[in-house]
Amino acid sequence: LKRVAVLTSGGDAPGMNAAIRAVVRTATHNGIEVVGVRRGFQGLHEGDMALIGPRDVANTIQRGGTILLTARSHTWRSPEGRAKGAQNLRDWQVDGLIVIGGDGSFHGAHYLQQEHGFPVIGVPGTIDNDLYGTDHTIGYFTAVETALDAVDKLRDTGASHERIFVIEVMGRHAGHIALEVAVAGGAEEVFIPEDAKPVDGVVEIVKQSLAKGKASSIIIVAEGYPGGAEGVSKAIHEGTGQETRVSILGHIQRGGTPVSSDRVLASRLGEAAVYALMDGKSDVMVGRQGGGISHIPLHETWEKKKDVNRDLYRCAKTLSV
Ligand code: F6P
Repeated sequence: LKRVAVLTSGGDAPGMNAAIRAVVRTATHNGIEVVGVRRGFQGLHEGDMALIGPRDVANTIQRGGTILLTARSHTWRSPEGRAKGAQNLRDWQVDGLIVIGGDGSFHGAHYLQQEHGFPVIGVPGTIDNDLYGTDHTIGYFTAVETALDAVDKLRDTGASHERIFVIEVMGRHAGHIALEVAVAGGAEEVFIPEDAKPVDGVVEIVKQSLAKGKASSIIIVAEGYPGGAEGVSKAIHEGTGQETRVSILGHIQRGGTPVSSDRVLASRLGEAAVYALMDGKSDVMVGRQGGGISHIPLHETWEKKKDVNRDLYRCAKTLSV
């Protein structure tokens, strides 16, 4: 293995820079050159790439976003687009590709391997924490902290006005962020896509809370729950007549300085990705499971469902008494 390429793709996540840095430095440590690809698969298709070294990634471990830039590539969805990208990799004499991203990015990497036999390794980088085969994904811990900080602030104003705040957090089709934030933020109720409980149930919960003397409440809704925060708010207003406010936290959850857990996870997985290529592995994601490094076939990362922590879900209920 003489030269590897690295790219970030899909939604950015805090800690992606720490992962790029780990790839570059592990490769350098082992006498391997690194080509940085800009704008993910889009840049791979266009041949927008350059050699990068250890000094190029200095002062990046603490930075949010991705220095390589990212995109959701449309050209990569066609076999022709992927063939062009494979050719660019060969022209650059690249022996293996490391893709830092989520399931969409892993699909792209998998097809490159399937159609062109090109060695690929996935590194889980998404705030959603929705990839099977790793306990956590890079960016998740920071997104939770950011959302929690917002929840704490909304609680101040909610308590002062004796209002019910319905707060929507990201997560695409998964409720991991919502559940963690609900427990850490002391929420009254949490709605996640993994549990199809009807929205009307919130009416009874709010009524009970009022009867117990709780003047204000925090309700967390995952964006993937049908109807989102607006739907939950509407149900509360119609069922109880209470004044509610909706706050959709949005892309703020994707930015900011990565917390230590994301930096350490990214450092370990970036290192593991280079060693996986050196070991001749391909078409797998490197993950962290129970403190060790796992190698999971890429297709399993999206085909197998990573469930939310059901104990935590129960705990959220118990503690809202
Ligand atoms: O996958 C990360 C994520 O932030 C999801 O939580 C969200 O549904 C989506 O990306 C938003 O995508 P975009 O940046 O294209 O608006």
